[in-house]
Amino acid sequence: MSETNNLAPNDLSSFWMPFTNNRQFKKNPRMFVAAKDMHFTTADGRQVLDGTAGLWCVNAGHCRPLITEAIQKQAAELDYAPAFQIGHPKAFELANKIAELAPEGMGHVFFTNSGSESVETALKIALAYQKIKGEGSRTRLIGRERGYHGVNFGGISVGGIVPNRKMFGTLLAGVDHMPHTHLPEKNSFSKGEPQHGAYLADELEKIVALHDASTIAAVIVEPVAGSTGVLIPPKGYLQKLRNICDKHGILLIFDEVITGFGRMGCNFAADYYGVKPDIITTAKGLTNGVVPMGAVIVRDEIHDAFMTGSEEVIELFHGYTYSGNPIAAAAGLATLETYKQDGLFERANDLAPYWEDALHSLKDAKYVIDVRNIGLIGAIEIEPIAGAPTKRAFSAFIKAYEKGLLIRTTGDIIALSPPLMVSKSQIDEIVDTIRETLNEVD
Ligand SMILES: Cc1ncc(COP(=O)(O)O)c(C=O)c1O
Repeated sequence: MSETNNLAPNDLSSFWMPFTNNRQFKKNPRMFVAAKDMHFTTADGRQVLDGTAGLWCVNAGHCRPLITEAIQKQAAELDYAPAFQIGHPKAFELANKIAELAPEGMGHVFFTNSGSESVETALKIALAYQKIKGEGSRTRLIGRERGYHGVNFGGISVGGIVPNRKMFGTLLAGVDHMPHTHLPEKNSFSKGEPQHGAYLADELEKIVALHDASTIAAVIVEPVAGSTGVLIPPKGYLQKLRNICDKHGILLIFDEVITGFGRMGCNFAADYYGVKPDIITTAKGLTNGVVPMGAVIVRDEIHDAFMTGSEEVIELFHGYTYSGNPIAAAAGLATLETYKQDGLFERANDLAPYWEDALHSLKDAKYVIDVRNIGLIGAIEIEPIAGAPTKRAFSAFIKAYEKGLLIRTTGDIIALSPPLMVSKSQIDEIVDTIRETLNEVD
C-alpha cells in the first residue's frame, strides 16, 4: 500500500510533473492537501489564498457543496456509459444548458476532456466542414504568435509559444501565424481594452493575399490570450478579424478555455466583445476544474452541414471514450447551477472595476513595467533580470506562496484570475502581498 502522507523527496520520483521544473520542485516540494472556497491548505497546514482559480479553472471556488454532492451521487448511480452509439441523460442536459449560455445560433456541443482536446476537435470540425461544403482545398489553419491552444499537435501548431513548439518536430503542415497584439510602447498600463493595435488584424489580409482564401479553413485565437501572460485585444481588433474572416469564407474559432464561463463577467468573451465566432472551445470553468471536461460549441449551420446523407453513417469520425462522461456531466451541471445560484458571473462583472483599480495601484511597485486587466483577469509584468529571464518572476511565485498567496507566472509576468467568489478584502490581500513580494525579491 502506498504511503500517501509521506512527502519525503525520495517518494516523489515517479511522477513526471507537467510544465514543472521537476528536479527543483522535488528538492523543495509545494503540496496542497485540501481546499475550501478561496483557499488551499498546504501539507504543513498553512492557508494559501487562490489568486489563480487553480489553473484558471476553479471559477466557483473550491469544494462547492452542490458540485461535490453531484459527483458523489453520480459515481454511485451511473459511473460510466459508453460514449459511442449510446447516451445517458445528463450529457444531453448539459449540452442543452451550455447551448443556452452560448451566443445565439450556437446550439450544438461536442464534449471532450480538456482544453487541448477541444482545440483539436474544433480544428478537425473546421477542416471537415470545409470539405463537406465542397471547399476541400481549404486546409490551411491560421493561429497567432504567443497563442496558447493546449499541448497536442494541432494546438501547438497553431499556437505561438516557442518552447512549446521547438522540440516537437515539424508539427502540422499548412499553418501560418498572425502577429500577436502586444504593443507595450503604446499600450502599457491600459485599463481594460488597449486603444492601439486594431490594425494588427489586417495582417490576416496579408496572409490571405499570400496563400489565397481558397486554401484557408479557419483562424483560431484566444479572445484574451491568457497563458502567454494576458494579452488583451486592442479595441476593435476582434471585430476586424470577424469581418475579414466573413469576407473570405474563413471560419473564426475563439479559444475560450480561459475566458468562458464567467471569467469576463459574462458567459463568454464573445458576449463581452459582441463578436460571434463560428466555433468556441471551452474546458476549465465548465466543471469548475473538478472533473476533466471540455466542450466545443458550434454554430448551427456548421453542425447541420454534417447532418445530411444516409442516417446509417457516422457523421463525424471523431470522439473520445470519455466524451460526456457521466461524472463529468454531473459536475458540469452542478457547476453551471452554482454559477447561477450564486450569481457569480454578475459578481465578476460588478467586481471588475474594483479589481482594475486594485491592480493598477501596483503601477509604482518595485520592478513593475506594465499592468493589464479585463474582467477578473489581471497581469503584472515585471522587469526581467538581465540575462536571466523568468528568474525574478519565479522567485516572486515562490515568495508569494510562502506568504500565503498562489499566483501564476509565465515569463516575467504574474497572471491573476481568482475564483469569481473573491471578496474585495481578498483582492486587497492579493495586491498587498504582491507589493510586499516584489519588495523582497532580487
Ligand atoms: C486558451 C487555452 N486553450 C487550451 C488550453 C489547454 O487546456 P488543457 O490544459 O485543459 O488541455 C488552455 C490551458 O490553459 C488555454 O488557456
